[in-house]
Parts: sequence; structure tokens; C-alpha cells
Amino acid sequence: MQQRYEEWKRKTEALMEKFPERKKEFTTSSDIHIERLYGPSEDGYEYDKLGLPGEYPFTRGIQPTMYRARHWTMRQYAGFGSAEETNHRFRYLLQQGQTGLSVAFDLPTQIGYDSDHAMAKGEVGKVGVAIDSLEDMEALLKDIPLDRVSTSMTINAPAAVLLAMYIAVAEKQGVPSEKISGTIQNDILKEYIARGTYIFPPKPSMRLITDIFAYCKDFVPKWNTISISGYHIREAGSNAVQELAFTIANGLAYVDAAIEAGLNIDEFAPRLAFFFNAHNDFFEEAAKFRAARRIWARFMKETYGAKNPKSWQLRFHTQTGGSTLTAQQPDNNIVRVTLQALAAVLGGTQSLHTNSRDEALALPTEDSARIALRTQQIIAHESGVADTVDPLAGSYYVESLTDSLEEKALEYIQKIKELGGAVSAVEQGYMQREIHHTSYETQKEIEKGSQVIVGMNSFMLENEVQPELLRVDPSLGEKQKTKLEALRAGRDHDRASAQLEKLRQTARSERNLMPVILECVKSYCTVGEICGILREEFGEYRGI
Ligand code: 3HC
Repeated sequence: MQQRYEEWKRKTEALMEKFPERKKEFTTSSDIHIERLYGPSEDGYEYDKLGLPGEYPFTRGIQPTMYRARHWTMRQYAGFGSAEETNHRFRYLLQQGQTGLSVAFDLPTQIGYDSDHAMAKGEVGKVGVAIDSLEDMEALLKDIPLDRVSTSMTINAPAAVLLAMYIAVAEKQGVPSEKISGTIQNDILKEYIARGTYIFPPKPSMRLITDIFAYCKDFVPKWNTISISGYHIREAGSNAVQELAFTIANGLAYVDAAIEAGLNIDEFAPRLAFFFNAHNDFFEEAAKFRAARRIWARFMKETYGAKNPKSWQLRFHTQTGGSTLTAQQPDNNIVRVTLQALAAVLGGTQSLHTNSRDEALALPTEDSARIALRTQQIIAHESGVADTVDPLAGSYYVESLTDSLEEKALEYIQKIKELGGAVSAVEQGYMQREIHHTSYETQKEIEKGSQVIVGMNSFMLENEVQPELLRVDPSLGEKQKTKLEALRAGRDHDRASAQLEKLRQTARSERNLMPVILECVKSYCTVGEICGILREEFGEYRGI
């Protein structure tokens, strides 16, 4: 085999004198050299490294039958304006065939302010739905059967508050907390690194996170307690290796924190979940997900000694790369999203959000959101890629990439370990610096034109027609303010005040915060009031 390859290589290089390749050097987004041709290495590829789907180390997928038994969950991130408007979009998407909910909250909610707070001005309902109290949450979830639909909530610093509201709404529907399923993002480390919606310093933030692990273990067993996210790390400009490494390093920090809080690994690890980006480099992205499963499985089984195979499984949601969308020629984004979604599916994702074509310009219109969902449905039902498990396995290129990504990610994870782990690395700004460097280098390539972005730095159009865009009602802030005044006037003031005082005392103790936060939301205390008490007790994080 080797001799034939050497002969082929000689003839090819002679040909290239007259017909050179496009580039001197081909590399992936993570600077992994791409060979011209991949074939079995001299000693033959160690296929035992791959294992079998549904078996440790899960390179080929976490389920033995994968999409042959169940397609990935089609879970479109949605939320804007009032709870009523978002409820309408949720029900529209469910009618159109989506199979899971995903809530986008506005920034005031995400950083623990009520809609009538000065800090909320101009942001109410803008990048997500405005949720101030249980009353809004009831409107958000109206006529949605919480015993049948799983819901993801993209909320981090106030995660405990929104989870408590969800539990309270389910109870009002007659659905006990043991029956609800869904995910809370609850990943504060990537907020410090890349996304920014943090409130409290690391220590109390980690406490809130592990309190949710402990509470859900006993009372909400079907709930995924965290969605350890690489998505935003990638959106901040990292490459695939950094996304993979920093996400897993953060995951290990949460595992350490939970064990330190007294939890046994098999009590909480089965309900840890992940969230990755599906970016443009097609084969590298599919390989990234395969490497992620193998890395996590080995840490859980070999380093942490988890015994339950469910603790070893890395289950993840994927969102196609928002930062790859162009404002120019927005219909081109449908093609980008299709390729990115296909990479996620070939990489074995459990749940998927496909971006809408107009999201570089505004929140998606109903038409754009529907096309994004149809993209998933066409991949699922027409392309055939869901009909066999891990179809890319055995591809010389993909297996080589999977190995290289695993190797490079492990180098980063080791480096972070030497810095004292992810929390310490974040406090030192290490991951942030690595991301900024990569982002800067990438931007230079785009501005030079050596990284082609179709429609943006190549193949441009002279006069573009702006598409119809979604507009959020700018007066929503006033309407939410009126609702809040009525809520505070109409609730049992003594009960609310008593619960907020109990919250303060609990924050000062070692006791789990979830039960008292649940009582606060049931007393119609607001997100801002609850987070206000916690701000007073924990302080605010001002970044490195
Ligand atoms: N054989 C047997 N069982 C199977 C199966 C098969 N082939 N396929 C699926 N199943 C089972 C699963 O085991 C599961 O059962 P269980 O709950 O008892 O284990 C059930 O079917 C549902 O399957 P999944 O759990 O795989 O799918 P879900 O969709 O329910 O969960 C998840 C997927 C990744 C684990 C979960 O955490 C999730 O839904 N995450 C979504 C996160 C999300 O949407 N985030 C959006 C963030 S938006 C954002 O941050 C970006 C913004 O900032 C811009």
C-alpha cells in the first residue's frame, strides 16, 4: 500500500508543476494540516478506538440505533417581546413540526433585572422574551403540555429562578416536577469567558449551580441540570479545538464542584448536557462532536470512576453558527445553515437549532423560522443520512481529524489543569486571551480575502434589497411596567416579603437555595427582587 501511495504522490507532484493547487497549505479552522489524501496508516487504522454506537467510548454515537429509532429533537431557539407573543411563536413552531421548545429570554431577565429597572431601558423583549414573574411564565407556557414537551431555557445567572417558575407552572397544570423534562443552561463559566450574562462572583455562582444539581436529583429527575456550552465560545471567535477543549474543561470544573458539594458522580453526571456550535468547516465539525464524546467518556469513566454508563455519555444540543450568517444576500444563509446542520447530524447531535436566514439583521420572522425548521425536516426525512449510524465512520479524513482534535483538545485541557482548573483559568483570563488571539487572526484572513465569505468579501451584489424584518414593539417596556405595578399591588405583600427574607437567610447559610426560591416565585416575587437579594448577599462580579 505504501509503495503505491509513494508512486501516486510523485506523479501528482509532477502534474502540479503545470496545474498547481489553490493553496500552498490547506488547514482546518484549528490549523490542523489537511493531507491531500487519507488512507490506512502503515499499521492499519486502529478501528478498535472507534468502538460501537451506544457503547463506551461512544465515538460513533450515544445510542446503538441513533436516528434510526428517533430523530434528533428539532428545537428552535425562540423568544421576543411579551410572553403572549412568544407563546404564539412556540405554538406555531410546534404546529409546524418542531419537537422541543427552547426559550430565549431578554437581557434584563438574563441579568436579573425587572422590566421596570433603569438597567432594562431599551432592552425589554428585545433579544428574547420579557419574564418578570410567575404570571409571565404562565402566559409563556399557556396551552403547552409540560408532561409531553421538553423545554430548554437559556438562562444562566438566574437559572434557579426560571427553573423554579417552570416547576411552579407545571404544578399549576397538574404535572408534578418528577414528570417534567427539559434543560436549563446554567453554565456560568462560559458567561465569564464569552457571553457576559453573569451576575455573581464565581464561588456563589458555582453554589447556585450545584444546588440545582442536588435539587433536581431528588425532585426533577428527568431535567438536564446544565447545558455546558461551547457555542458562545466559538461565537466569540475560538476555533474548533478551543471550543471543544474549553467546554470540556468547564464541564470538569462543574463535576469537581458537585463532588466538592458532596454529590456522588453517578447521582448527577447522567443529567449533565452539552451545547456546541456547528460551524462552516464541515468535516472538522462532524469530527469535533465525535472527539467530544470520546474525550468526555474517558474522563468520566477513567478519571472520575463513574460506574453508570449514562454518566459516560456526552449528550449535546447544537446550534448552527450565528456568527457565520451574513447580512449580505441573506438567502445564502439557508445554504450555510443546511451544511452546518448536516455536520451536526453526521456528528450525532441529540438536539438541533437551525438559524434563520435573517438573523444577522434581526430576530427571525415567522417565515424565516419556518424555513430553518424545514431545513432540519428535509435532512431528517429526505436525505437518508439519518438512516444509518455514524455514516462518516471509517473515512480516513474524518477519523484522522477526530484523532487530531482529540489530541489537541487534551493538550489544552492539560494546560488548564496546570493553571488550577477552568475557574482559575477564567480568573486569569487564559481562555479569553486564547480566543481573542484566534478571533483576531481569523478577522485578518477575512479582511485580506484569503478566507472567503460568499456575498460579503467575494461574489458581492451591487444593490441589495433589504428583506422584511421582525420588529419588536418598542413600547413593551411601558406595558411590562404597568403589569408589574398591578402584580405588586395585587399579591400577598406580607407573604412575598417573608419569603424574600427567608431567601436572604438561606443565602447566608449552607442550605440549598432552590426550595426557598421556589416559594418566592410561588409568592409572585419577581426575578429582579430575588436577584436583588442575592446581589446584596453575594455581590456582583465585575469581570477580570
Ligand atoms: N434509543 C433509545 N432511546 C433514545 C434514542 C434511541 N435511539 N434516542 C433518544 N432516546 C431517548 C433519550 O435517551 C431520552 O430519554 P431520557 O431522557 O430518558 O434519557 C429521550 O429519548 C429524549 O432524547 P434526548 O435526551 O437525546 O433529546 P432531548 O432533546 O430531550 O435532550 C439534550 C437533548 C442535549 C440532552 C438536552 O440537554 C437539550 O435538549 N438541550 C437543548 C439545549 C438548547 O436548546 N440550548 C439552546 C441555547 S440557545 C443559546 O444559548 C444561544 C444564544 O445565546 C444565542
